[in-house]
Amino acid sequence: MDYTRGELIHEGKAKRVFAVNGQEDLIWLEFKDDLTAFNAEKTGSFEGKGQVNLAITENLFAEFKRYHIPTHWVSKVSATELVVRKLEMIPLEVVVRNILAGSTAKKFDLKEGTELEQSIVELFYKSDELGDPFMNEDQALMLKAVDSKTELEQIKQMALDVNDILVQTFLKADIRLVDFKIELGKNSKGQILLADEVTPDSCRLWDKSSQKKLDKDRFRRDLGSVKESYEEVLARLTSDKKSEATV
Ligand code: ADP
Ligand code: TMP
Ligand code: ASP
Repeated sequence: MDYTRGELIHEGKAKRVFAVNGQEDLIWLEFKDDLTAFNAEKTGSFEGKGQVNLAITENLFAEFKRYHIPTHWVSKVSATELVVRKLEMIPLEVVVRNILAGSTAKKFDLKEGTELEQSIVELFYKSDELGDPFMNEDQALMLKAVDSKTELEQIKQMALDVNDILVQTFLKADIRLVDFKIELGKNSKGQILLADEVTPDSCRLWDKSSQKKLDKDRFRRDLGSVKESYEEVLARLTSDKKSEATV
């Protein structure tokens, strides 16, 4: 199927969203080279970022498909462009943590790197204006971010299922999955699908032996080698596939 790009619908921090000509139920995502942090207070970019992030997303969404996680993926149309099912987005950033880091470590003054006995799910309200505040489940219902408790349970279970797949996939690449954020949306039948992207922008990824950070924290914390780290993640994910294929 040949798709053609329609009008620009939305310019986000890391992607542009376009219509797809003649396809009301699809949208076209263009992965940009831009990088932002702290609700876009800090901005940057590197050449090839859009390409590397889409390639990582492609690899990981192939794993989700293998494990029957329903996603928005339709077709990659260029190195930086992707056609997906247009969803009614659920205004939540769903975060899963396996190892303590980032905002939760800071909030409770706990040591980054502490392995959690059980993975935890956290909800943030997706609102640039409010700075994506943390919210509990009752607040998600209050704000009608979700329709019901059952839907919330379904979202949390999907996030944990995604976590199981990602932990294993990254471990094969000698990477520890510290935490990550996903976004979900509903199709016209009301089915919840995994949307957006899964990349070093949306995950914390540490080298298994050295604990070196291989994700957006390199940019957030001015650690350098941002481009090289993203490329390293992609190289490891794909070399792992190659070695599996030859077994
Ligand atoms: P942001 O500026 O919100 O951080 P991006 O720059 O990544 O995000 O822009 C992509 C936008 O597209 C986001 O608002 C995201 O929620 C939205 N989006 C992702 N997947 C889909 C989808 N399948 N249907 C509709 N919207 C989507
Ligand atoms: P946090 O520790 O800052 O709450 O981040 C948790 C995870 O979510 C981490 O992997 C980074 C990711 N994340 C996003 O993808 N987008 C965001 O806006 C934020 C704040 C975090
Ligand atoms: N996603 C947010 C931003 O782009 C925050 C972050 O990732 O640190 O500004």
